[in-house]
Amino acid sequence: MQVQTDSDTPLTDILALHQLAFGASEGAAVATLVNALMDDETAEPRLSCVALEGSALLGHILFTATHIRGHDTLNTAILAPLAVDPARQRQGIGRALIAHGLTQLRSQSCDAVFVLGDPAYYSRAGFHADHTVAAPYSLAYPHAWQALELRPGALAGVAGTLECARAVQSPEHW
Ligand SMILES: CC(C)(COP(=O)(O)OP(=O)(O)OC[C@H]1O[C@@H](n2cnc3c(N)ncnc32)[C@H](O)[C@@H]1OP(=O)(O)O)[C@@H](O)C(=O)NCCC(=O)NCCS
Repeated sequence: MQVQTDSDTPLTDILALHQLAFGASEGAAVATLVNALMDDETAEPRLSCVALEGSALLGHILFTATHIRGHDTLNTAILAPLAVDPARQRQGIGRALIAHGLTQLRSQSCDAVFVLGDPAYYSRAGFHADHTVAAPYSLAYPHAWQALELRPGALAGVAGTLECARAVQSPEHW
């Protein structure tokens, strides 16, 4: 299994993976979101990473640019979404995709990354809810709104609301 920044995986394969991983209830909406984000200039800089075995796609993760009003010098991103082939889950592929993405973002001088997801999962990568940047909408599970500072102290004293790419910014994604 190899994890790499994506350059030429067919978008149809990536969308099909999200459909499969998120299942009947959420799959179509997540695939629609990924499709929109891949063609959204407000999502740039965008980082798309894949886990491959030969030419088979096992996992995909997407990071897109975000902005905190009043903090224009901060480079931030949101992790959304992450999917691993159900037949290959619990083998460290999700963890490897997160680690690869965070390494790339760090090398691109990204200061902090946000995610809305299960704290039990994302805390393993260092994400936590102990920050003061608000999500774009009020959340049913506020403890799921987490951040990770890639530059230590980057979010200290930073209060404001995160603004995401157009495709993520609509209320149905929150
Ligand atoms: C969540 C997901 C990406 C994890 O990928 P993965 O490759 O299976 O994860 P890893 O192998 O890196 O880590 C597995 C560990 O995380 C835990 N884990 C997996 N999915 C989890 C979840 N949804 N919530 C909490 N913990 C989870 C497991 O307990 C496992 O640990 P264990 O094997 O010691 O019990 C994958 O299950 C998936 O694609 N799910 C459907 C889509 C989804 O929910 N994406 C996340 C949206 S925020």
